[in-house]
Amino acid sequence: MLIDYQMMRILQTALPLLLVTLPLAAQPEGTHYDETRVPAYTLPDPLHGVRNAKDWPRRRAEILELFRAHMFGRSPAKPQRQTAELINLDTQALSGKAVRKILNLHLEHQNRKLAAELLIYLPAQAKGPVPVFLGLNFSGNHAVTLDPAVPVSKQWMRGGAVAARGATASRWPIEKIIERGYGVATLYYGDFDPDFDDGFANGVHALMGGERTPESWGAIAGWAWGLSRALDHLETDKDIDSKKVAVLGHSRLGKAALWAGAEDPRFSIVISNNSGCGGAALSRRAFGETVKRINTSFPHWFSQTFRQYNGDESALPIDQHMLIALMAPRPVYIASAAEDLWADPKGEFLSGVAAGPVYRLLGLRDLGATEMPVIHKPLMQTIGYHIREGKHDVTLYDWERFMDFAGMHWRNQ
Ligand code: GCU
Repeated sequence: MLIDYQMMRILQTALPLLLVTLPLAAQPEGTHYDETRVPAYTLPDPLHGVRNAKDWPRRRAEILELFRAHMFGRSPAKPQRQTAELINLDTQALSGKAVRKILNLHLEHQNRKLAAELLIYLPAQAKGPVPVFLGLNFSGNHAVTLDPAVPVSKQWMRGGAVAARGATASRWPIEKIIERGYGVATLYYGDFDPDFDDGFANGVHALMGGERTPESWGAIAGWAWGLSRALDHLETDKDIDSKKVAVLGHSRLGKAALWAGAEDPRFSIVISNNSGCGGAALSRRAFGETVKRINTSFPHWFSQTFRQYNGDESALPIDQHMLIALMAPRPVYIASAAEDLWADPKGEFLSGVAAGPVYRLLGLRDLGATEMPVIHKPLMQTIGYHIREGKHDVTLYDWERFMDFAGMHWRNQ
């Protein structure tokens, strides 16, 4: 039987009896948490053929193409038409601290339509356009806040049940973000593409149509594309400083945030939280989740071409340090959690290290370390990294570091 490892973790929490049969150290077949079993590997050189900083844009385009062809797939351009319908505006939200906007983004292509709901909170005290953190959420906009004005999502829901209002609010510390003078914008990932393997019959894939090939976009590229459509809208909002939008995401949505940052240079800062395999973690380490495992559990996430690397990571023409390097010269931040071994915290850190030569070539600052920092000692250069205690999650600690990092760079941008 195939068990989504995350589901296994949920079962472990919910049903203590299962602890007997599924001990925490258990890993799905073919995966391990044993550093001594990490194979010897050589990473592809992100600066192959590059002599100086002027060569970087050409090399960057080459690497981007490799990621499209071998991993995430090729995404289409914009839909023919996109409009925004304001469905709710409150200038006195969160006890007067915030301006809340709820919009439906209507995307139209060849007479096909898709709508995605965008929820935005901006500081009410703002004297001008504010920088914004933009990210997708897992359970619907109504789940990120107890604010009763946010409609309960009627879309497909992971696990079948609709999350309670505010169920994931701990992952979205809206008031703290507002207090620091930033805005936050989020959309439900299922609005862009329901997260199951249906042969790409719904969501953005159906909207944009076109013949599918082994290099066509998967779900992660679909979510990333959705983030760019949200940015298209943010660029039209006078209350937002659209040159200062940080794209961020957790886990599979961290993979999507990284791909959005790679495909769309308008994102000024890119933040990955516990993104693991297919995100910040080096594939060649094959520690925790592997390429084979992710392609088997989630066949709809990547392009079909990625499957040829199942159990053969060393054949990949890329590795995830090159995904991090695609953000250069923009600041990029990687966050890990100590108990999140499935996502390979060390592999996430080493990606940041191995992207360093690109940043140095451009006269920017690499991570400034080659050994993993201890817990709660963030590294903040042009590349940033932290590892916090605890499990696979997004916590206030993570957000505070994201705001420290983004704030530090935004002040200089
Ligand atoms: C699973 C999956 C990971 C993913 C995670 C999540 O654990 O194996 O790749 O990051 O779900 O999105 O929560």
